[in-house]
Amino acid sequence: MSGVVQKAGLFADYHTLPGSNPEDKGRFEVTQAVADTDIFKVPSLRNIAETYPYFHDGAMADLPDAIETMASLQLNKNLSEEEVEDIVAFLKSLTGKIPEDALKVPPMP
Ligand code: HEM
Repeated sequence: MSGVVQKAGLFADYHTLPGSNPEDKGRFEVTQAVADTDIFKVPSLRNIAETYPYFHDGAMADLPDAIETMASLQLNKNLSEEEVEDIVAFLKSLTGKIPEDALKVPPMP
């Protein structure tokens, strides 16, 4: 696997918020190593405002929801509405030409 991987759900069980299938334990499925439980690739945020749904299984359709989820699960922070809006605005600044490939619906597990 290329790219950086991280534990999804540092401050609470990852499967509680995006509502992902608890049977999907990320990299663990490949390595069967307990330390790889809920380890996922950290995706690029380029064009993120245009490439919903979010997370490895497309569990969330709404960008503000995905941002709130990340802040809560990965940083143990409750963002204000204004903070979420600011982050949405920043992420929108990462929008450029979307590669054809990114617009194809990926096969889901
Ligand atoms: C406020 C800060 C953060 C924001 C706004 C943010 C935003 C996002 C977004 C929008 C996604 C979905 C990307 C996609 O579906 O293509 C994502 C996924 C992810 N982020 Fe964050 N993130 C934040 C902090 C963090 C931190 C601190 C970590 C790790 C320590 C982290 C690890 C991950 C991982 C592993 C995924 C993939 C999860 C999956 O595929 O199920 N994020 N992030």
